[in-house]
Amino acid sequence: MNKLLIKNARIVTSERIYFSDILAEAGKITYISENIEKKTDYDILDAEKKYVFPGGIDPHVHMHLPTFAGYSADDFYSGSKAALSGGTTTLIDFVTPQKNESLPDALAKRKKEAGKCLTDYSFHVSPVDFYQSLKPEIKECINTGITSFKVYTAYLDSIGLTDDKLFKVMQIIAENGALLTVHAENGTEIKKLRNKYFKEGKTEPEFHPLSRPAETEYKAVEKIINFAEETNCKVYFVHVSTGKSAEIIKSAQKKALPVFAETCPQYLLLEDSKLKGKFKDTAKYVFSPPLRKKTDNENLWNALSDSVIQTVGTDHCPFNYSQKLLGENDFRQIPNGAGGVEHRLSLLYTYGVLESKISLNDFVKISSTNSSKIFGLYPQKGEIAVGSDADLIIWQNTDEIISIKTHNQSCDLNIYENIEIKGKPQTVIKNGKIIFSDGIFSDNISNGEFLKRKL
Ligand code: URP
Ligand code: ZN
Ligand code: ZN
Repeated sequence: MNKLLIKNARIVTSERIYFSDILAEAGKITYISENIEKKTDYDILDAEKKYVFPGGIDPHVHMHLPTFAGYSADDFYSGSKAALSGGTTTLIDFVTPQKNESLPDALAKRKKEAGKCLTDYSFHVSPVDFYQSLKPEIKECINTGITSFKVYTAYLDSIGLTDDKLFKVMQIIAENGALLTVHAENGTEIKKLRNKYFKEGKTEPEFHPLSRPAETEYKAVEKIINFAEETNCKVYFVHVSTGKSAEIIKSAQKKALPVFAETCPQYLLLEDSKLKGKFKDTAKYVFSPPLRKKTDNENLWNALSDSVIQTVGTDHCPFNYSQKLLGENDFRQIPNGAGGVEHRLSLLYTYGVLESKISLNDFVKISSTNSSKIFGLYPQKGEIAVGSDADLIIWQNTDEIISIKTHNQSCDLNIYENIEIKGKPQTVIKNGKIIFSDGIFSDNISNGEFLKRKL
């Protein structure tokens, strides 16, 4: 049985910061106290008074995502390895059934695909249509530990739901006390604008954000909040990109509606000017929703520090340049998505904590504890307490730049290329075992486990 004693930890949780030792046995935290006595059968790790955070939870990743451009560049193995190097020890990915495939069947298939995932993991399951047996299918998923269901109001030609279907799905989710996660963009309006620009010969990546203006997001957010009010459905907006959406979400929360929100580092740090220029430099910034303005970046930081937005996920979905090239003459054919799973904590720490936009406790909430609570994993994950999984990060100061030469994701592009980071994990501990230390992965990292979540 592996036993790990971490000495001199400066423990940071969502509520407290304090010095202590931590004992982990058989994958769980079993004792937290000052001066825990060393025993011969313990492995000892000296944290040297560095910050120790709970392992990160990324509530929004797409590994091995099938698209018209082939699979996204990271599979579950390479993507989860990248996640671990950046301090994320739990991932929530997605199950997107084929039309006519049941949700439980699609879930079983996706679990097999995730077999080589090195982090623990779960999925948001997507109803991509409304039909009679959807209700029992959703119940069956809940019984196997899935408590959140993802819908899209964009991508209407494939996986998106029209308003009438969305409303019925929300009724079922609400009846079962589950959570609806939503990609909120007005698919009909976006399709019109994309085709209009293309017909006018406007084919470059810069027309991607122009064809998805801010109102295509915030009006969809507004509509879904109205549906939530009528159906009593709990809603979590993924990848919120505009300040105006955050404002609307805040108003809903003031009315005590159960509305949660996530944003991503790209919407906090990057602007739509990144899409101006040559295809080779701009195609990597094509993802949806698109990049916005500096004021949106600022308003989203404020929404995070005010707890209007509770989580930061990455929407990790990298594509190689050869895949992006499919849209060289038509921005509509550029596969949407970018990677970032390994940079989330470093970016939040550098540009959030060190720039005094969020506190250290907020950092832990946003990167880990809030996702654990919202998605039914608490207190197993996202906490440093006796009984919680021993998923821990020892943090160190650094001064380096992000580069495709050194990143761990399996992709030849990086939207954070040349961006500076000032903190990163020195040691990552997963289920009480050191799996990454001083830039080196340990030899035998066991596969992660599918997490049964609670309502
Ligand atoms: O452009 C993106 N975000 N691609 C991944 C799928 C999604 O919409 O989240
Ligand atoms: Zn999305
Ligand atoms: Zn996504």
